[in-house]
Amino acid sequence: MILVTGGAGYIGTHTCTELLNSGYDVLVLDNYSNSSPLALDRVERITQKTLIRIEGDARDPDLLDQLFANYPIKAVIHFAGFKAVGESCQIPLAYYHNNFYSTLVLSQCMQKAGITKLVFSSSATVYGDPEVVPLTEAMPTNPANPYGRTKLMVEQMLQDLAASDALATDNPQPWGIALLRYFNPVGAHQSGLIGEDPSGIPNNLMPFITQVAVGKRDQLDVFGDDYDTPDGTGVRDYIHVVDLARGHVMALERLLDDQITGAEAINLGTGLGVSVLDMVNSFTNNNSVAVPYQIADRRAGDVASYYADPSKAFDMLGWSAEHTLSDMVTDSWRWQKNNPEGYAD
Ligand code: WQD
Repeated sequence: MILVTGGAGYIGTHTCTELLNSGYDVLVLDNYSNSSPLALDRVERITQKTLIRIEGDARDPDLLDQLFANYPIKAVIHFAGFKAVGESCQIPLAYYHNNFYSTLVLSQCMQKAGITKLVFSSSATVYGDPEVVPLTEAMPTNPANPYGRTKLMVEQMLQDLAASDALATDNPQPWGIALLRYFNPVGAHQSGLIGEDPSGIPNNLMPFITQVAVGKRDQLDVFGDDYDTPDGTGVRDYIHVVDLARGHVMALERLLDDQITGAEAINLGTGLGVSVLDMVNSFTNNNSVAVPYQIADRRAGDVASYYADPSKAFDMLGWSAEHTLSDMVTDSWRWQKNNPEGYAD
């Protein structure tokens, strides 16, 4: 059985779907602070399998101790956390408490229970504004905001935890920790039943595009067209959320069979840079739907361009992205069109 914290979220639901389809038993722990239990109903509908769901917080050691005592958990995938860069600048302590402290408590309870296989939801924001692209895991990490700093701090704590194995006198099971650095997750399961469901005004590009297309927003503001990029707009490495989910299952398999021990940072990206206008044009051309936009000022904190060198994921996990840009825009649109109000529908 795999414990998935934050399993009702955007990446969590897609990963639970892949886990169930791969034959794993799944236990989801979620406090639904930024997600809906309805999303887990949809996962069960897609897979025709059931998962166990516990409503609670990953920062609750007593609850975690109970779960590890009462269920045959072999590994943990830890998604639970906050993820909005701008918000992290406004309420940094909440981000350190939720993102860093939850992982500290979880790791302590795992250690007590003798569970040493962990997949952690990290982020490409640990790189900050890169000098060089594409980004490899060996490149400097210099996050430019509290959100990215919480992710890097967790990575460093988990590196120290894995390194402590070498000094332990009795470690029946070595720590195996995959620190998965996501680039820009977009898209949705092809069923259109699960997808990204941001609360309030979307921070990210794709949900904003789909809300304009479905008529919920008037137009898209393109944050700057004077960057040093081919068309002047920001370039990112967009990765289909199903590819991201597959990467989690493949990492988990290599932890469980001890092919990966210690703590390994791994980029999950396509290796392709796509601009804002590329994304808008691909969306309108593939979906035959208008996305009115205007060029607006740059957004504070944005960088011109970043995208992954995903070769370590291929070498270590046998993973590479399979979905194309047209898959991303058509799958995102199917989810939004079928669920104009997200799970609230
Ligand atoms: C992408 C591009 C914007 C919105 C963030 C987080 C990162 C990760 C993914 C958690 C940029 C442009 C956007 C809009 C626009 N999340 N844009 N108009 O900033 O690359 O990364 O989300 O891990 O941590 O930092 O993603 O989707 O916000 O922006 O023009 O209304 O789209 O300027 O070039 P970003 P994004």
